[in-house]
Amino acid sequence: MKAIRYHQVGGPEVLRLEEVPEPVAAPGEVRIRVHAAGVNFADTERRRGLYDAKVPLPRILGSEAAGVVESVGPGVDAAWLGRRVVALAARSYAERVTVQEQELLVLPERVSFEEGAGLLVQGLTAWHLIHTMSHLSAGQSVLIHAAAGGVGLLAVQLAKAVGARVIGTVSTEAKARLARELGADEVLLYGESDVAERVRALTGGRGVELVLDSVGASTWKSSLDSLAVFGHLVSYGSASGAPPPVDVESLYEKSLKVSAYWLRTNHPPELQRHAREALRAELAEGRLRVRPGLVLDLAEAAEAHRQLEGRSTVGKVVLRVP
Ligand SMILES: NC(=O)c1ccc[n+]([C@@H]2O[C@H](COP(=O)([O-])OP(=O)(O)OC[C@H]3O[C@@H](n4cnc5c(N)ncnc54)[C@H](OP(=O)(O)O)[C@@H]3O)[C@@H](O)[C@H]2O)c1
Repeated sequence: MKAIRYHQVGGPEVLRLEEVPEPVAAPGEVRIRVHAAGVNFADTERRRGLYDAKVPLPRILGSEAAGVVESVGPGVDAAWLGRRVVALAARSYAERVTVQEQELLVLPERVSFEEGAGLLVQGLTAWHLIHTMSHLSAGQSVLIHAAAGGVGLLAVQLAKAVGARVIGTVSTEAKARLARELGADEVLLYGESDVAERVRALTGGRGVELVLDSVGASTWKSSLDSLAVFGHLVSYGSASGAPPPVDVESLYEKSLKVSAYWLRTNHPPELQRHAREALRAELAEGRLRVRPGLVLDLAEAAEAHRQLEGRSTVGKVVLRVP
């Protein structure tokens, strides 16, 4: 089968379309014929050697897939055969991938493979940021950086769904339009003005109860300065570089909380099942929209990475697997 592999870490050019052996479903696993593979910022970091740096190379890239179950391993219910599914799946930049049966989520009928490929990594992250990490509630305000990105657009929608007021930051006017279209109440362009000052002005001088920061180095100070008393900053990425170490002394004045979220933390299985089902229901009923802003063929994975790292993408980046 065809797959995108890298033999050494580096720029997007290290990604190669190669012929590799098809995986075989082991006991408890199914094999999915991949129709769409989600591209995530973390994939670009893996490729650069900044994340998961110890994995042996060559390696097939990827972290999630949407497709059809085409074979089942020993001990797996044959009723899965032919079902349209999505799953968190390492090595999904490929025509076929194997995953554990319990990882499967049935794709709702009216949802395309491209949309499905954008649901799990970014959707679960956004869901846990809003519901597990912070318990955001109606009437509170949240500042979401990179609000038109994959996680960002989903977090905007989930925050609006609980009745919060959403202030987003983005780098371009086109991204601001999309974030507003999906529910953001206010969208600020970084660099246009002092973000924390604008946030305070928009919240009657109070600041926001929650900041979701995936940008890191370049947004860290404005994130802390935007918080209301007893406010909470959740760090979950470092697209612009790692944030500085937290100076606990500096948190006393406003009694602030700083925390970190990682999707690969060992979540209680019940919680993860609940989050996945909640996301599926929101998507099936049209309350949550995944926006595949860039869809390219598997062979164009390097170009997908170039655009994602170049900050030119909005919403989800997807590789179509013909
Ligand atoms: N902790 C976890 O478990 C977890 C899970 C999933 C994702 N993440 C993190 O969440 C973030 C979003 O992931 P995603 O896949 O949805 O990507 P994305 O948001 O679609 O793309 C990254 C966005 O970050 C912003 N950005 C700001 N400074 C940047 C820089 N120097 N270089 C590149 N981008 C920059 C850009 O938006 P603007 O142009 O609007 O600034 C860019 O579009 C990433 O940092 C990722 O690592 C973490």
